[in-house]
Amino acid sequence: MKLHGTMSVKNNQLYIGNVSCSELREKYLTPLYVLDEELVRDNCKEFVKHFRVEEDENRVAYAGKAFLPMYMCNIINEEKMYLDVVSGGELYTAHKSNFPMEKILFHGSNKTMDEVEMGINLGVGRFVVDNFYELDLIEKICNRKNKKQKIYFRITPGIEAHTHNYIKTGQIDSKFGFTLENGDLDRAIKEVKKYNNIELVGIHAHIGSQIFDIDPYLDEVVIMMNLVKSIKEKHDIEIKEVDLGGGIGAYYTKEDNVKTIKEYCEAIINKSKEVCRKIGINLPILVIEPGRSIVANAGSTLYTVGAIKNIKGVRTYVSVDGGMTDNIRPSLYQAKYECSIASKMCDDKVNRVTIAGKCCESGDILISDVNIMDIETLDILVVPSTGAYSYSMASNYNKIPKPAVVSVSNGNSRLICKRQSYEELLELEMQLELTY
Ligand code: LLP
Repeated sequence: MKLHGTMSVKNNQLYIGNVSCSELREKYLTPLYVLDEELVRDNCKEFVKHFRVEEDENRVAYAGKAFLPMYMCNIINEEKMYLDVVSGGELYTAHKSNFPMEKILFHGSNKTMDEVEMGINLGVGRFVVDNFYELDLIEKICNRKNKKQKIYFRITPGIEAHTHNYIKTGQIDSKFGFTLENGDLDRAIKEVKKYNNIELVGIHAHIGSQIFDIDPYLDEVVIMMNLVKSIKEKHDIEIKEVDLGGGIGAYYTKEDNVKTIKEYCEAIINKSKEVCRKIGINLPILVIEPGRSIVANAGSTLYTVGAIKNIKGVRTYVSVDGGMTDNIRPSLYQAKYECSIASKMCDDKVNRVTIAGKCCESGDILISDVNIMDIETLDILVVPSTGAYSYSMASNYNKIPKPAVVSVSNGNSRLICKRQSYEELLELEMQLELTY
């Protein structure tokens, strides 16, 4: 298992943020999400530095969908970043944590009327407008409230990138954004010019997630900068901000060939400068929206081992006290993870086992066929790199309460989200008599 951030091993015991995992279990029970605050902050600082936030006024907007307790909003704000939200719930979270609303990018492919109204009322910096319906809604609500709203248009750039490959399709089959090929973007721009309350300041695209290759981003830069030029020529609108979305890949297992934050940022910035020079336009403010690359490696999940079932010649199942409810990614995407026993951090990987969750689903398998040290009931199993899209995608399936989240740093731990109680699990339910 790769040690990330502040992880260290003393006397075969795993420490995160200088707090031992055994101590964390004793204090907070399991399953438990542990956030390495120093690593989150270091990653933010790397982005801010290499994306030239201070020198060039570029912006790094953390994609809240990856993990967004209020505490995370505070860190993001302190680290001088913007925040990308995709729903009324995420926006409310940011609002409640006093995140500056002008630094919010409001995404979402089908914002409801209530969400649009909420965004306008709260004064979010930019709506990333996805479709004609939303455009019209924003204009109407702004008109009624006598407000102005800055927007980006989300476009479908015809690049689709995944972990190990990418395709340039000129693809129009996407639920997101305005298509270039069929003239939708042109139509939307003409529309916006008629509106009094909307100012188009930027364009946005997002080409995928968990991308290791830098080339798709460079192709995206070419498309976006040429679009800036053609919008100026065709519509006489100066696009001042270009948002290239998120998607930078993070390490989960040895198969993941990650590059550094610096490499991505420098390549994107250099390419943007080169293309703008070549086609003769001013360099716009650049925006990126990393989610996973900021928090994935900073989060680990601690579980307690329960039942161990050995089927001779077939497989050994090691069951833990969590599973697909706290990390749906293995069942949903066949995502791979590493793991270890937090109190036996040595290299003697003598057993081959499969780590199973506790849900009533055969598919609730966290890690298949992993080599691990001698494992016993009550051991603490640690699964690293669960910081992104685990807590934010957690569910109450089987009525399993959501785990607690603690932040660790410099030998201290703090509860940032409490464990859901059974009582809270029923909070939304009405206790009704069976008669009307
Ligand atoms: N910006 C936009 C518009 C996005 O749609 C996303 C992610 C991001 C930024 C952040 O992407 P990141 O840097 O985190 O890759 N649940 C999936 C990931 C879905 C990503 C959706 N959009 C998973 O667990 O792998």
